[in-house]
Amino acid sequence: MKMTRRAFCAGLTLAPLARPVQAQDMPLLTARAATVQLAPDGYPATPVWSYDGTIPGPVIRAAQGSRLQRRLVNTLEVPTSVHWHGIRIDNAMDGVAGLTQNAVPPGESFHYAFDLPDAGTYWYHAHTNSMEQVARGLSGALIIEEATPPDVDRDEVLMIDDWLLDPDTGLFVDDFAAPMTRSHGGQIGNLVGVNGRYDYRLPARQNERLRLRLINSANAQIFGLKLEGLTGWTVALDGMPLDTPEPVTDTLVLAPAQRMDLIVDVTAEEGETAGLLFASADDTWRVLAEVSVEGRAASVPRGAPQPLPRNPGMEVTGIDSASVLEMPLQGGAMRGVESVTFNGQRLGWQELVQKGQFWALAGQAGLGETPFTTLSRGETARIRMTNDTIFPHAMHMHGMHFRVRKADGSLGPLRDTVLVMPDETTEIAFVADNPGKWLLHCHMLGHAASGMTNWIMVT
Ligand code: C2O
Ligand code: CU
Repeated sequence: MKMTRRAFCAGLTLAPLARPVQAQDMPLLTARAATVQLAPDGYPATPVWSYDGTIPGPVIRAAQGSRLQRRLVNTLEVPTSVHWHGIRIDNAMDGVAGLTQNAVPPGESFHYAFDLPDAGTYWYHAHTNSMEQVARGLSGALIIEEATPPDVDRDEVLMIDDWLLDPDTGLFVDDFAAPMTRSHGGQIGNLVGVNGRYDYRLPARQNERLRLRLINSANAQIFGLKLEGLTGWTVALDGMPLDTPEPVTDTLVLAPAQRMDLIVDVTAEEGETAGLLFASADDTWRVLAEVSVEGRAASVPRGAPQPLPRNPGMEVTGIDSASVLEMPLQGGAMRGVESVTFNGQRLGWQELVQKGQFWALAGQAGLGETPFTTLSRGETARIRMTNDTIFPHAMHMHGMHFRVRKADGSLGPLRDTVLVMPDETTEIAFVADNPGKWLLHCHMLGHAASGMTNWIMVT
């Protein structure tokens, strides 16, 4: 018999036992090896690196305005650290090995504790050798709840990922650093799934209203998504609410590390196909998450949802007087780059390739001693990223959200990761209100590891 909380309390006559403070105040997040069935039945299970033994790691939920604490316990054989992607965080807790902390050695632990100013859909992932560690499974969803949640029947997290598996052994194809993929689009898996399952299924009732929190945790894959049997609105991007919910009419694009909150009504009837589809490489739409409709929640669907409440202090002001910093995205197969600085040396393209580097941001490959720019706290900055490569890049800034400033001067939604297409220029504008050292990098993790990572300093 499963004991409900109510039954338990009713039968409880003794005073509750004191619990050790550590268990209460400092929940653990354990990075550990595990074996998980990612491939369909009949294929071997996959040895993974995980948080707490599952793929993805546990969904961490916390209230907006509260403080999150986790002790990362590293039981892996390699050093690691955790980055809390999208959180306007205290810089010392940002988890970037080599910039904001030392990686946590095997057998040791690190206490993460930080405030949560914003509600929304975020995620956490390894930020030490991320190219390999995230691909092996070190990621999970981080959900910060509004004080007053929107009027939905259910709140579901859909963490979208891909895995590159050897079908004979079930092992990851472990050439995570393959120059061929790093110098091209990055590592794309041969199995796609949601919440660790290639056949993810979500039971629902007709006219039920769901909040779907989509998170792209793949290394490099850009997902084209569409709804079937569902009527939906986009209500937030990268955690931040849109001023007005936008009806989903077209293909949704979700680049690596991006999030998208949808509110959907299940309009399909019992027995009809419904769900989230993705455009597969062979140009057909395939089911990514099936919504299986059984029964009915209401006789008619509801109207357009209300916008989510805004997060505090996110206005991007002072744009017109802000200086524009140029950041060309350079390198990669077929284009290369003439010369770049790497580890303090000026190198030609061939020399760079010999060092296993293929990309640069504004003539700099990887982190240099000096930041791309130093901004004073509260200053507004504009960075114009021109993609001089033939590949798309999902550019992510730590610690602060930005808005895309369009050519006509209008501003796009708040984001922390923006997809910059080949030969396109994307200008971002933000208020540098969070002091510290913040990475600005491509979230195609193989690109980030081979040149496309820089940092900015806010003093
Ligand atoms: Cu998802 Cu440097 O981060
Ligand atoms: Cu890239």
